[in-house]
Amino acid sequence: MFTLPFFSNNNETKSNGNTPMIDLRDVNKYYKTAVGDFHALKGVDLQINAGEFVSIIGKSGSGKTTLLNMITGIDIPSDGEVWVNGTAVHKLSENKMARWRGKNLGVVFQFFQLLPMISVVENIMLPMDFCRTYPMRERYDRAMQLLELVELADHGHKLPTALSGGQQQRVAIARALANDPPVVIADEPTGNLDSKTAESVFSLFNELVAKGKTIIIVTHDSALAKRAHRTALIADGEIVNEYVAKAMPTLTQDQMLWATRNAKVQTFEAGSMIVAEGTNADSFYIVSKGTVEVVLPRENQSDVVVLQLGPGKFFGEMAFFHKRKRWASVRASEHGSVEVLAISYDQLTELLNQSSVTREALHQMADKHQSQNEAIRGGSK
Ligand SMILES: Nc1ncnc2c1ncn2[C@@H]1O[C@H](COP(=O)(O)OP(=O)(O)O)[C@@H](O)[C@H]1O
Ligand SMILES: [Mg+2]
Repeated sequence: MFTLPFFSNNNETKSNGNTPMIDLRDVNKYYKTAVGDFHALKGVDLQINAGEFVSIIGKSGSGKTTLLNMITGIDIPSDGEVWVNGTAVHKLSENKMARWRGKNLGVVFQFFQLLPMISVVENIMLPMDFCRTYPMRERYDRAMQLLELVELADHGHKLPTALSGGQQQRVAIARALANDPPVVIADEPTGNLDSKTAESVFSLFNELVAKGKTIIIVTHDSALAKRAHRTALIADGEIVNEYVAKAMPTLTQDQMLWATRNAKVQTFEAGSMIVAEGTNADSFYIVSKGTVEVVLPRENQSDVVVLQLGPGKFFGEMAFFHKRKRWASVRASEHGSVEVLAISYDQLTELLNQSSVTREALHQMADKHQSQNEAIRGGSK
């Protein structure tokens, strides 16, 4: 008797600490067309850690599939680098690519792409046959176990066409897991399914993440996208900074992209001052890494930390609406360095002129912080 390790813990052993599982560095993709080059990906940087569940959203034609094709090696970048699980995918030769992909990535498509002439269980065994990852005698049992995972154990001997769309997609997911790859990539896997079936497919992805897989899915459905750990928004071939999107969710995609392009990335060492109370203010900041502390001076008392702000939170909105003087000091926390995105007040003015909802949201936040601060400053113990 032998027991099959259902999933190896390969995520933990293969990735060493800080190296992301997936790392796209300044990736550009141009397609040749009759009317000249089309710039489909414009300097995309994207890092995804082992065990993360990331959804990619964006309008039709924004470059989502092109981006996934860079990761799977189905297509190569015009320039830039793509690293997956320690391999430089942009440099892999064509004859090494298919086997590498078979072992490292499980790929799920919108239209399932199961082979129609062979049974469901044979479809799942195919990647194992191709990559010879498991001894021949183990392959059938493993395929049946994978079918159990997707709750289709009774359907193994049917042809794919005898199954419903949702069932076929679950078979496709089982097939993607055949070689126990650390990464699963799915391009609109629920695009062709009704919402209840889409829900069950998403639950399956959640289970796989819990087992340690790294998962990237492209979806049109922003409600489903929110169930991932992180959402990357792509607009017109560029990744919108996720912290811009988090800080100002009511901007349009184009406005978020504009803010992403104009924001200046600044880093500060642990404990260092970012803005000082009483000084003139000219920028709004969004935290993108680490934690900042908002520190308030008090009459005849020591300073007090009134707020801690992590990634996606912002500061500098009070001075924008009131007097343009810093109301409090903000410093990087003692625990580690901080990265912020600085947006000048001129740029913020331009942005808020186009989005009154966002202006209102920031204004309310400024008023709320101001009254809190006044209470703390004036309050004596
Ligand atoms: N092989 C190709 N040749 C020329 N243009 C392409 C090719 N593939 C995609 N494009 C164009 O690149 C853009 C991004 O396409 P795609 O990545 O498929 O978008 P999405 O998946 O977000 O809908 C689109 O404008 C599309 O027309
Ligand atoms: Mg697409």
